[in-house]
Amino acid sequence: MKTIEKLILQNKAWAQERRLNDPEFFERQQHSQKPHTLWIGCSDSRIPPDLITDTDPGTMFVHRNIANLVVHTDLNSLSVIQYAVEALEVQHVIVCGHYGCGGVNAAMKEQDLGLLNGWLANIREVYHHHRPELSQIPDEAERWQRLVEHTTRAQVHNLMKTAIIQRAWAKRKAPSLHAWVYQLQSGELKVLETIPAGS
Ligand code: CO
Repeated sequence: MKTIEKLILQNKAWAQERRLNDPEFFERQQHSQKPHTLWIGCSDSRIPPDLITDTDPGTMFVHRNIANLVVHTDLNSLSVIQYAVEALEVQHVIVCGHYGCGGVNAAMKEQDLGLLNGWLANIREVYHHHRPELSQIPDEAERWQRLVEHTTRAQVHNLMKTAIIQRAWAKRKAPSLHAWVYQLQSGELKVLETIPAGS
């Protein structure tokens, strides 16, 4: 069977199973969403946020891009953040990086990646900021992992500085911000940093 046909069939089976286990499920889903969390993650196919956190549809509002970046000039992510924080009033925003991130690795190398250059410049900036520490790590794989952590933390700090978050903190003392990293080798999440509302 073709890959694409398989997707449609698997969807049918999934919907049927859902209905069997919870006959009201889709009825409830139709009316509204009240996600408690905004997830900002990498587009990497190995890190589907709801699957790795075992959460139901309706639980997390999601934005994914290459290397899970929060960039102040990126209208796409800012629109998602604004809607999640101001309209949906999420309680948490998670920025989840992952070890083995190809985007972060590409940013470490001096190669021309076309359109991606501008995007990865945001990671190169983080690298530059932490160069004294990173240049002390002789092992490239280890340096890569460390840059993943620095990049992920930097995105949470970018987030904290947005007017959207500052306004929400003043108004409703939420959301709290979280920097996490996903470990491909174990499937487990690691907490890097937690920033409570109003920090
Ligand atoms: Co990635």
